[in-house]
Amino acid sequence: MESNRSALSSLSAQRLAGKVALVTGGASGIGESIVKLFVRHGAKVCIVDIQDDMGQLLCETLGADTCFYHCDVMVENDVCGAVDFTVEKFGALDIMVNNAGIADPPCPDIRNTDMSVFEKVFAVNVKGTFLGMKHAARIMIPLKKGSIISLSSVSSTMGGLGPHAYTGTKHAVLGLTKNVAAELGAHGIRVNCVSPYAVGTPMALAHLPEEERTEDAMVGFRAFVAKPANLQGVELTTNDVANSVLFLASDEARYISGANLMIDGGFTCVSHSLGVFR
Ligand SMILES: NC(=O)c1ccc[n+]([C@@H]2O[C@H](COP(=O)([O-])OP(=O)(O)OC[C@H]3O[C@@H](n4cnc5c(N)ncnc54)[C@H](O)[C@@H]3O)[C@@H](O)[C@H]2O)c1
Repeated sequence: MESNRSALSSLSAQRLAGKVALVTGGASGIGESIVKLFVRHGAKVCIVDIQDDMGQLLCETLGADTCFYHCDVMVENDVCGAVDFTVEKFGALDIMVNNAGIADPPCPDIRNTDMSVFEKVFAVNVKGTFLGMKHAARIMIPLKKGSIISLSSVSSTMGGLGPHAYTGTKHAVLGLTKNVAAELGAHGIRVNCVSPYAVGTPMALAHLPEEERTEDAMVGFRAFVAKPANLQGVELTTNDVANSVLFLASDEARYISGANLMIDGGFTCVSHSLGVFR
């Protein structure tokens, strides 16, 4: 009874009090939810993005515990500057969230792959994530602590769920997570990734022309991904993803490193294709 009570109070307490975080792609979607949840749990957060207006607006809404830094994660100088800015502004860097990501548009025939798009998806999702790991490590290694969390996807472990470049990059994020965890464990730094199923964010409609990114299109997307989901009656939200990132960032996950936390309601560990249960 007493242990239940203390578990409950630790869940409701500020789980990141006194910590400083940097969230890439923090201006919208999953990143925005992570920023809001981190602030609610007592962290100071630097929002990093290329969407300056949205990032600055979020900062104004959340107040002095946040700041915004324009950074294209494909550019090493930008990522280096974002990390240094965070440390100058808030005095530390305890948590690095590599969330910024893009997807290539659907392309059902490999022969039509536009290689400039392919390279850009790798540059944002893989190079951007690696640069975040590299520059966070620069600050964290001397302090012998820190938590690095990257956004992967159900496409980190399965094929056929998305376009080629996106799938390749999300496998790569998992590979980098394991390898960087192998190096940084010696310094007390934890490195993990999370792998969500589909969530209704701007990314879901990004491949459509601007005028087709409507409420109706989003409703259609959500219905489309609800059908093959394993867990029925529950819709995955950006808050669910943010909660898992909060867990990995907090001291409750103090012995978890090298993990790929699936936020998929069992989607990647079951197949209903033989119709045994449905
Ligand atoms: N939405 C999903 O269904 C889903 C599922 C699994 C994993 N993810 C992953 O979650 C992460 C966040 O995606 P989201 O759904 O919130 O998408 P989103 O498009 O809403 O947000 C992505 C953010 O990253 C920013 N960004 C893009 N390129 C950037 C760059 N070069 N430098 C800095 N910032 C950049 C965008 O401006 C945007 O604010 C991505 O890594 C994505 O792959 C999303």
